[in-house]
Amino acid sequence: MSTSTTPTGLSAKEVANAGIAHIVLGTKAADASQKRIINSGEDWDLNQLVPFKHLFAWEKYLDACKNHWMPNEIDMTKDINLWRSDDGLTAQEKRIIEMSLGFFATADSLVANNLVLAIYKHITSPECRQYLLRQAFEEALHTHSYQHIVQSLGLDEKRIFNMYREVPSVAAKANWALPFTRSLADKNFSTGTQADNQRFLRDLIVFYLIFEGIFFYVGFVQILSMGRRNKMTGTSEQFQYILRDESMHLNFGIDMINQLIIENPEVWTQAFQDEVRSLIRQGVELEYQYAEDTIEDGILGLNRQMFREYLEIIANRRLAQIGLDPEFPNHVNPFPWMSEVMDLRKEKNFFETRVTEYQTGGALSWDDE
Ligand SMILES: [Fe+2]
Ligand SMILES: [Fe+2]
Repeated sequence: MSTSTTPTGLSAKEVANAGIAHIVLGTKAADASQKRIINSGEDWDLNQLVPFKHLFAWEKYLDACKNHWMPNEIDMTKDINLWRSDDGLTAQEKRIIEMSLGFFATADSLVANNLVLAIYKHITSPECRQYLLRQAFEEALHTHSYQHIVQSLGLDEKRIFNMYREVPSVAAKANWALPFTRSLADKNFSTGTQADNQRFLRDLIVFYLIFEGIFFYVGFVQILSMGRRNKMTGTSEQFQYILRDESMHLNFGIDMINQLIIENPEVWTQAFQDEVRSLIRQGVELEYQYAEDTIEDGILGLNRQMFREYLEIIANRRLAQIGLDPEFPNHVNPFPWMSEVMDLRKEKNFFETRVTEYQTGGALSWDDE
């Protein structure tokens, strides 16, 4: 592959890592072992998907395609009637729904922007890029879903979509994550050195393990609890599909992070591991503050202590998923139904609403929630 021309003003390595290098006629096909999660652009042409090396990414891409769904195909009639009826929902229940929509409506756009503007160009595995393209579309579907719920219920869309700039516990989560993606958006940033590879890995850990892997879970539990009580079943079903997608995003992120560490073991220093633990502790605190802000004891059979325990269980699981020891005491999971709720095929009539069978291939298997 040529490294001599840089008409874009980028370095030869950056051009190669972007997959837009000059084509040299007669260049022999490289060996797939040259592929790396980051920094393989000069050894592997990024426009060549096969032969595969990172099979986990291709398999998850295929599984994700079997999961296709559209927000506007879910019946929202019962939700609209319940929302409008005078004695349908308590003020507290309405607040939980609005807060969830307020957080997620912008959070999924933030994740998508991080993916396409900060992450994608530095990933040099074509099969990982293939999955990222699918994930980016799914994030668009999720934002579509929140817009569809807001519109169906006749909520004030300006107020909901601006909540992350007005409600402190919603703003705190987005504000905490933003510097990590902003750091990669710096036009002078590129991977390569140990410090820069760590900077990139830090962003992956923040967005996959903490943003998608911790910050989404209080909202998911709250909305799905409503569905279990036969309230807002259309909204719950939307969230159920989203949770299934997010579970896949998380598992893909974990595989990619672990493979990056295998290929670049020098990044996984003790100091970096300590920093990851600290970031996960901060994530748990922010999500707990969000839980405190959104519920009062007793609503929907949920209380603050349950969320504290659940978040600590999830945080320990995230640490284990990247090979780190637990940080928090062991608890009994207060929401064991959460892992079952993700399997839409098994729980097909869970919310007693019309469910379209989107699965078009073989059965899904879930690594974890
Ligand atoms: Fe999403
Ligand atoms: Fe996601």
